[in-house]
Amino acid sequence: MLKNRVIITGPASEELGTNLSRKYGMQLMKPEIKIFSDGESKITMESVKNKNCTIIQSLCPPIDRHIIQLLMMIHKCKLDRASKITVIIPYMAYARQDKEFVKGEVITIALLAKLIKYFNIFKLITVDIHSKESLSYFGSNIINVSAIPLLARYVLDNIDTDNVIVVSPDYGGFSRAQKFAKILKKDVIYLNKNRNRQTGDIKIETKHGGDLKGKKIIIVDDMISTGNSIIKSCELLKKNGVANIFVVCTHALLLNEALIKIKQSGAYEIISTNSVPNVCSKVDLSDILYSSIKDK
Ligand code: R5P
Repeated sequence: MLKNRVIITGPASEELGTNLSRKYGMQLMKPEIKIFSDGESKITMESVKNKNCTIIQSLCPPIDRHIIQLLMMIHKCKLDRASKITVIIPYMAYARQDKEFVKGEVITIALLAKLIKYFNIFKLITVDIHSKESLSYFGSNIINVSAIPLLARYVLDNIDTDNVIVVSPDYGGFSRAQKFAKILKKDVIYLNKNRNRQTGDIKIETKHGGDLKGKKIIIVDDMISTGNSIIKSCELLKKNGVANIFVVCTHALLLNEALIKIKQSGAYEIISTNSVPNVCSKVDLSDILYSSIKDK
């Protein structure tokens, strides 16, 4: 057992917190959480005075509830005078609200960063945050870990990669897909995704490069929320005569029956990490997260 080191797991990251504790001998603390009828959370946890604390909480749905719970746990560690506070947010919500896309829009990731920075924590670790812009609001003590090498390793170990082409659903995610394709030693292309900023509707009607006929496709994205980006990608890829489609992402939120709809659109399998635990979480993040917190 690592002396004085505690991992505090929020309700959104119990699996990862438990894995970290078990693998690396950190004392596990699961705060007691009560949700009142009006939706308020109440958190009760024992004192962490003089402890080196790592709090882990993904900001998956219900997002705003998970944010306030995270802030409550940090606040409690501060009040108790923990010797050090490290925070792990495996999935960082609001990272897509990183610019004023339409005049008057609030850049909410900047607000979230401000709230966390207020506590002056030692280090913040997140995984495949949506954009560099989002990262820029947090200051120098944030570490953005990439799960792409782990996801690529999983694919190499479990899928026959003969005849594979890697596809990014949009230009914004192209460098991520390139990184993945480089590990697989495969070609990579991107699709042209257009979003109506008023309605949020997306269209994916053309691709950039590559003859896809008869190819095995691996779509790589940072996240799946409603699944629309992947569904529209699959529809276009099918029109281009691909043989089969796999989907790889870091954060699978899978809202509104996204998993069923994605499979109906032609994808054979979805592979994600356990930043948001569900049936697609085949890649465990605990080793790379531990590498970022150890000896610090
Ligand atoms: C957008 O740029 C992201 O990288 C994802 O492609 C997108 O946010 C996924 O959302 P949805 O599953 O709702 O299309």
